[in-house]
Amino acid sequence: MMLKSERRALSYDDVLLRPRYSEIESRTEISLSSDLGKGVKLKFPIISSPMDTISESAMAIAMNKAGGTAVVHRYNTIEEQCRIVKVTRALSEEDAYWDLMIGGAIGVSGDYLERAQALRQHFVKFICIDVAHGHHIMVKKALCTLRKLVGEGVHIMAGNVATLEGINDLADWGADSCNIGGGSICSTRIQTGHGMPGLHTILDCAQTDRDVKIIADGGIRNSGDIVKALAAGADAVMCGSLFAGTIETPGRVFEDIDGTKWKSYRGMASKEAQLEWHGRYSSYEGVATRVPFRGPLPDILSDLERGTRSGFSYSGARTLSELHAKAEFVTQTSAGHSESRTHIINRRW
Ligand code: IMP
Repeated sequence: MMLKSERRALSYDDVLLRPRYSEIESRTEISLSSDLGKGVKLKFPIISSPMDTISESAMAIAMNKAGGTAVVHRYNTIEEQCRIVKVTRALSEEDAYWDLMIGGAIGVSGDYLERAQALRQHFVKFICIDVAHGHHIMVKKALCTLRKLVGEGVHIMAGNVATLEGINDLADWGADSCNIGGGSICSTRIQTGHGMPGLHTILDCAQTDRDVKIIADGGIRNSGDIVKALAAGADAVMCGSLFAGTIETPGRVFEDIDGTKWKSYRGMASKEAQLEWHGRYSSYEGVATRVPFRGPLPDILSDLERGTRSGFSYSGARTLSELHAKAEFVTQTSAGHSESRTHIINRRW
């Protein structure tokens, strides 16, 4: 039996960025902004995932205030999804009303075109085709139909894909940006044996010669991973678990017997989510879990932004395009990985 490919596929922990000579004297000289095209501009290129335990109004407001955006999930009726967009607008400060950077997720079957139309009528800045396997004929049909329906001027994000062929095809079918990668709650690799290590996916997709932006989606655990994803070629990152458990996520806070507070976080392909939204489940490729209650999101977003700015400065990069050009990765061994962590905590004295 021949191996189809023997290329080494790298994960975030397999690499570090080599520090470069820097002339940046203050981190305020750095711009993190990213233009995804067709009016989707982010001051901090970070997007909250279209998941029912992550992105509704409060999340969208917090993400906007931090310079990012949110994709309102589609696990609701069209009316409910549009109500979330409307409420978010109403909560924006007045001068931010039309600038509100908010996207809406749709699927590829059933009412997806009606949903897209309704979202457009509520002035979402972009539409996100949100399915597990984006390199698929149903996505091709949906994307081509949607593009005809909304015209060239509307930004369409689509995914997820994990390969260069995938991103090229999505671009050819009409996508302006593509979600690539897999998440912390994802069990697709265990369930199906398919998938790609996160960083490799970005490096692979960054070889595209199409005019398409790359959204590194899932697997981001800290600002170091954000910097690595952007350095590898991403134009923005999409995150779920980084924001899970905050006040701004939908759902209630619940308490343990010992008083510890928690919130829910679950994959949209988990058995629990499928049962709730479809009343049945097929192959489940995600898990449902609880995460500690983590308080307000703005504090977390500020830390992430500061860490990302610092990361740019270690590469001597004032902008995202400079980071793309200057970043130099080195691979590390597992000893290097252990050394990279704050290793005093596990030291035996
Ligand atoms: P995280 O930031 O690592 O937690 O990953 C969030 C991303 O995981 C989302 O943006 C989706 O792309 C992906 N995702 C959401 N639900 C599922 C699931 O049930 N299975 C696999 N991936 C999922």
